[in-house]
Amino acid sequence: MKKIPLLLLGLIFAGQAFGQGNNYVQNYKKFDNLALTPPMGWNSWNKFACNVDEKLIREVADAMVSTGLRDAGYTYINLDDCWHGDRDAQGFIQPDAKRFPSGMKALADYIHGKGLKIGIYSDAGSQTCGGRPGSRGYEFQDAQQYAAWGIDYLKYDWCNTEGLKAEGAYKTITAALRKAGRPMVLSICEWGNDKPWEWGPTVGHLWRTTGDIYNCFDCVVDHGTWKSFGTMQIMDKQAALRQYAGPGHWNDPDMLEVGNGMAANEDRAHFTMWAMMAAPLITGNDLRQMSPATKETLTNRELLAIDQDPLGVQGFRYATKDSLETWLKPLANGRWAVAFLNRSRRPQPVRFDWQATPITDTVAKAELNAARTTYRLRDPWAKKDVGTTKKPFAATVPAHDVTVLVLSN
Ligand code: GLA
Repeated sequence: MKKIPLLLLGLIFAGQAFGQGNNYVQNYKKFDNLALTPPMGWNSWNKFACNVDEKLIREVADAMVSTGLRDAGYTYINLDDCWHGDRDAQGFIQPDAKRFPSGMKALADYIHGKGLKIGIYSDAGSQTCGGRPGSRGYEFQDAQQYAAWGIDYLKYDWCNTEGLKAEGAYKTITAALRKAGRPMVLSICEWGNDKPWEWGPTVGHLWRTTGDIYNCFDCVVDHGTWKSFGTMQIMDKQAALRQYAGPGHWNDPDMLEVGNGMAANEDRAHFTMWAMMAAPLITGNDLRQMSPATKETLTNRELLAIDQDPLGVQGFRYATKDSLETWLKPLANGRWAVAFLNRSRRPQPVRFDWQATPITDTVAKAELNAARTTYRLRDPWAKKDVGTTKKPFAATVPAHDVTVLVLSN
């Protein structure tokens, strides 16, 4: 066999790796160093659906600051569906001129001026779920437009995607965002259909694991061609996916319904379980008119710290007995969060003997061994220290509610 000179061999390999050295090589990898803890913010859909305009968005941004949510860590103001107008003669998407007369750049500037970030919504198909222009065939132009407006976060939906394959379609928008050059969080929203947890971690920063959330604690609503799910149903679907979540790549059990009409205890349980699952905390209520209970729930720093813990481990269901579930989440510095969730309509007693057996989390490689270590117990809802792991913990958990403890040594 004729020997190929080493230099030539090197050139051949370089040519293959870099597409003959041209400029057309795509980068299908998400922007790094974003969403290292689950993203926190607000999204228009759950409360306002298609009724969005710049006045509302500005007022919500104002409320994000005045209510203290920004200072508690909520950062993104995300427009969902229906902000769109038409494309211009060159194909660049424009906002609906009646609803957004000042334009998106002005809105982004306003939001940035408040120390917040702005998110926008599009769809991989021909049209969004609300029938507005989708990005299919316009991915690079749309990404360029969003970058020019100063967008920081893109939720990318999956309606009207006939013939598309999710992994490829999401890689296309990632490449387009990369090409546009402005770092953006990419929220993959294909409802868990094509196992985004398997291919999503390099492509986006979070991926929906289920269909849409419905504002109920425990129900399924059948809309004919699709279903939406209560908080408990969503939690059950996401529970098995914990090994896929981590800093920069999160399972997304959909946006919060806190403050949208469930009872205060149900809101508290919903919020707690989202924190236990290291879920993105994207509020979906009207921040301009929150009850004190809603505000208290959303800004409980100790709960937020469970969600935002730097280890980024999604918690797990450890035990179930008579509709009472025990969930655990390992936290940084050997700490643990424990939630006793009562799914039933009656109060349930809980008794937990820490000494009984060590608990091992094989995913996080963490151990809760109360025989070896004495942990202090803190109840972050009551904001009280409640003893140590030397004695069994006993309490009654009200119906559709939680008792939470943070263990530290
Ligand atoms: C889909 C998404 C929702 C929302 C709507 C908007 O149903 O899953 O979160 O974005 O579309 O039309």
